[in-house]
Order: sequence, then C-alpha cells, then structure tokens
Amino acid sequence: MNIPIANIGSAKDNANSAIHNWYKFTAGFSYKLVDLIVDEIGEHPSCIFEPFAGCGTTLVAAQKREIQSVGNESQQLMCNIINAKLNWDVDSDRCQEYMRSVNDYVTRNVLSDDVLSEAHELLESLYDKETLKILYLIRNAIRLINDEKYELFLNLALSQTLHKSALHPIAVPYIVRSKTIVNSGDAWGKFSSIVNQMLSDLESMPHHNRYAKVFKADSRKKNINIDDCLCDLCITSPPYLNNLDYGEVSKVHTHFFEMTKDWHDITETVRKELVTGATTHYRDCDFDIDVFRNSEFATENKRLMKELEPRYMYLQKYSSERQGKKSFHILMMHYFEDMFYVLKEMRRVLKPKSRAYLILGDSAPYGAYIPTTQFLGDIALSVGFSEYRIDKIRSRGHRWKIKTRHNVELSENILQLS
Ligand SMILES: C[S@@+](CC[C@H](N)C(=O)[O-])C[C@H]1O[C@@H](n2cnc3c(N)ncnc32)[C@H](O)[C@@H]1O
Repeated sequence: MNIPIANIGSAKDNANSAIHNWYKFTAGFSYKLVDLIVDEIGEHPSCIFEPFAGCGTTLVAAQKREIQSVGNESQQLMCNIINAKLNWDVDSDRCQEYMRSVNDYVTRNVLSDDVLSEAHELLESLYDKETLKILYLIRNAIRLINDEKYELFLNLALSQTLHKSALHPIAVPYIVRSKTIVNSGDAWGKFSSIVNQMLSDLESMPHHNRYAKVFKADSRKKNINIDDCLCDLCITSPPYLNNLDYGEVSKVHTHFFEMTKDWHDITETVRKELVTGATTHYRDCDFDIDVFRNSEFATENKRLMKELEPRYMYLQKYSSERQGKKSFHILMMHYFEDMFYVLKEMRRVLKPKSRAYLILGDSAPYGAYIPTTQFLGDIALSVGFSEYRIDKIRSRGHRWKIKTRHNVELSENILQLS
C-alpha cells in the first residue's frame, strides 16, 4: 500500500478534525489511514472490526463514511468516550437545557468547600483549589441528569476540560510536572465553550445516524456478541511492546470519575483486562518458563519460540544487572501469547480472505531488538491467516537523548494480513 502521509501512525491529524479531536489520546493513529484503506479497497466494506477501539478513531472515521463497524475496548472510560463520539443525534436545545441545570447546581454549591472533602490527592496536586471544586461540582451535577446519552456527551466535554484546566500536562502520555500550562484554571468557562464547540461539530456532520457498536470486551477472548465472519475488514492499532501502561495513562480520569482510586484498583479493574504491554501488568513470580513452553501459544508457534527463547535468556540476564530490573523477558512472552489470542479472535470475526491492517511499532528493551511486526505476522499465520506483508511508515526512537538508552533503530509499520 502506498502511504503518502508521514503522520499516519500518530494522532496529530486527529487534533484538527471534528469529533476525532474530542479527546486527547496520544496512543491513537491518523483517521486518514481508514480513508486510505477504504479508498484503496475500492468497494465499501460491509463491516469493519476494531479490536482495540481506544478513543474510537476507526469507528468514527467509518461512521463518517456511513460504514458499519464493531469495536472492542476493555477500559470502561474509553468505552464511554467512544460512545459519546458516536452519538450524533444529540439535540442542541435539550443539551443547553441540561447545561442550565448543571450551571444552577454549580452556582448553588460554589460557596461551600464540602465537595473538596472527597477530592482525590492526585487531582489536588494537578488543579488549583477553586478549579478543582468547579470540576467536581460539574461532575456531580451531570450525575443528576439521568439521561445516558447526554451524560456521556457532557462527561466527554468534562474530560477535555480536565486536560485544558490542569496546572501540568496530563496526557503525554504521563503527567509532566516539570511543565506548567500557562492558561490553566477557569473550568466552567472552558467546559461551556467545549460543549458549544462539540454541538457545532455535530451540526457539521453529514448525517446523524449511528453505524457503530462498541463492546466493553477483552479482545483476547471470544466476544459472543460478534458473530463468526461478521466483518470483512479490520483496522486497528494494538498496544505496542513498549512498556506503556494504559491503566496508568488514564488514571487522572478514572480517579476523577471514581472508577478507580489507587494502584490496587487500577490493577484489578483496568490492567487485568488489557493485553500485557507493561511490566506493571503481572507479578514476575507467577511466570514459569517451563509451563509457558507447554502453552497453546508455544506449541503452535514452535519456530517463533526458537527466536523468542534466546531473547528471553538475554533479557533475563540483562535485567538482573540493570537499574530498575524490569522483567522485559517475561513481558515479551506474555505480550506475544496475548496477541496470539487476539489474532485468533480476529480470524474468527473476519470473513475468509478479508484483510486486516495493524499499526505496530518494533521495540528494543535493554537494546535487544524485537521485530514485533514480523513476529506478529508469523503468529497470524499460525491462527489461519494465509499471508502477511509489512510496510514501513517511519523510523522511530531516534529522538531520545538519554545516555543509557540503546541506539537501535526502530520502525513503525503497517502489518497487513490476509
Ligand atoms: C494503541 S490504543 C488503540 C488506539 C485506537 N486505535 C485509536 O486510534 O483510538 C490501544 C487500546 O487498546 C485497549 N486495549 C488493550 N488491551 C485490550 C484488550 N485485551 N481488549 C480490548 N481493548 C484493549 C487499550 O485500553 C487502548 O485503549
């Protein structure tokens, strides 16, 4: 496939596109990729599958073109965001009515500090007191609306407000306390202007119908709500093998909306449902390489295991000598095993001969190069795909100026399965 756009693997394009820009999500990819693929295929796909729906790039892009799609996303926070981005029949007058009731609630309660007694300490460190009070009051007022579609819509506007009124950037992907946002604060002003912008974005949409379904589901498992062979195209970007912890990335929001309150909650309610992509997702003592060698993944991928084992040994030795002692050897094994199950489920959901496009980055923990894209292509063959090809989008990893970091050149690729 010809990929004329350098930014295709990043979310930069999405920042300037209505609805795609309703939530700042660093792990996304360009919506233009969906258009490119659909145009290249020529005919309209009957239904697109997205096993890692994230903030909904594939589903929103498909809906703009009136194409059906189904997506899995294991985080409740992200499911709420996607659903809000896909409900285009939100009525402007009704929304403004709800906004008046939210405003009344905030005005009635603003002189009391009671709401701050329940404030989370992480949030206390990211907002000034007055801003945080308004944010919590808006949240509590939205809870009283009792109209799910509008609650989702206003909560998404509030999520954006969390980004825009923080003292420090909170989504890059981790909190950067060394940088201060000049224009922080003014939570109500920002919230109401975001709501108005979102309403005006909806007016500019070509239609107001819903074409996508989102399931809060773990893509490593069979989703019984999606029939065998329902879809004829898959466009997705799985978690990379790069130690990014999605539970950690979304914690400002999940703590604020009271979905989690601490590390333990994030582990139990978020991390367990995710593809293992970070060393925070498991306990080293639970992993036994001898048991792993007899797993379904290992027995069905014997040739690949010959590539993985030497890397496992090298990383195990290296991690015991390095500061931090991160168990990348175990992470790598868990990651490929998890992705084996994801690819199996993808094969089930897709009609025979359908294509799947996966945006992926290679990695080199402690300098040991892991050709993730190629290994996933090999795993795809083991679950029933017939062939794969890899197209490089860009080189990555060379901007790091950390002395102790490796200098292995990495790439971001599109893995195409058929
Ligand atoms: C790289 S992001 C996807 C980005 C998405 N394609 C977009 O542009 O918005 C990976 C997403 O997969 C989700 N995820 C991770 N493991 C999952 C699993 N086992 N099942 C479903 N979703 C999962 C994460 O919560 C995260 O939102």
